[in-house]
Amino acid sequence: MTDEATATAGPLTRTAAYWDARHRDHDDLASGGHIGLDRAGNELFYALRLGTLLSLVGDLASPAAPLFALDAGCGKGHFARALARCGHRVDAFDASPAALAHARAEGGGPRYALASLANWRSPWPYDLVLCVDVLFHVLDDGQWAAGLRNLASLVRLTGRLIVTDENLERRRPRGDYIVHRPLAAYRAALEPLGLRHTLFRPYGFRENRVGFHVFTRTR
Ligand SMILES: C[S@@+](CC[C@H](N)C(=O)[O-])C[C@H]1O[C@@H](n2cnc3c(N)ncnc32)[C@H](O)[C@@H]1O
Repeated sequence: MTDEATATAGPLTRTAAYWDARHRDHDDLASGGHIGLDRAGNELFYALRLGTLLSLVGDLASPAAPLFALDAGCGKGHFARALARCGHRVDAFDASPAALAHARAEGGGPRYALASLANWRSPWPYDLVLCVDVLFHVLDDGQWAAGLRNLASLVRLTGRLIVTDENLERRRPRGDYIVHRPLAAYRAALEPLGLRHTLFRPYGFRENRVGFHVFTRTR
C-alpha cells in the first residue's frame, strides 16, 4: 500500500490491503465481481446488476438535470462509468489505490478519490448514493455503522441510498471476509437519520441471494 492509502484507510488497513492486492492481481471484473467466476460469468454478473441498477435509478433521470451520484467503494469504476454514460455527474471513491489507478485510466467521466466509507466528505448532497457489494465486506460492526451513517448523511431530501446485501432476518457470516446483516440492522441505522426502506430488488444471479436495498430520504 502507498503511504497515502495507509494514512487514509487508518483502522481499515488490513481490509484495504486485501482489496488492493486483489485489484492488482485480477482483471477488471473478477477483482470487484465474483472471484470464483470465469470471465463470461463475471460479464453476466455485472450486466445483470447494471440492468437492475439502471432500472432503479432511471426514473429519476432527466437530460436537463443530471443526477448527482456517488459510487462509494467503486472498485475499478464499472458502475460509476455506466452512470456517467447515462449523463449523470458522478463522484466515486474507493480505499484501494490500485482500483483507482485502473478506474482513472479508463476515464469516462467520474471524478475519483481515495477514501473510506466513513471519511468521504462532500460539499454538496447527492441525489443518489450507491454502494455495491462493499458493506457486507466490512466485518467490524462499528465501522459498518459509521460508514453507513456517513453515506446516509450525503443523501439529499427525496434522494436515494442504494446499498447491497441479502434480505435477511438474521445475521449471516460467510467465511472470513463476508458478514451479511439483517434488514433490521440497516433500518435501525438509517431510519433515525430520515431514510426509509422502499424496495429490495434481488440480483437474480444464479444462487446469489444479494440484492439492492433502496432507502429514500423522507425527512
Ligand atoms: C467487491 S468490491 C466491489 C467494487 C465495486 N463496487 C463493484 O461492484 O465493482 C468491494 C470494494 O470495496 C472497497 N472497500 C472495502 N471496504 C471499504 C471501505 N471501508 N471504504 C471504501 N472502500 C472499501 C474495496 O477496495 C473494493 O474495491
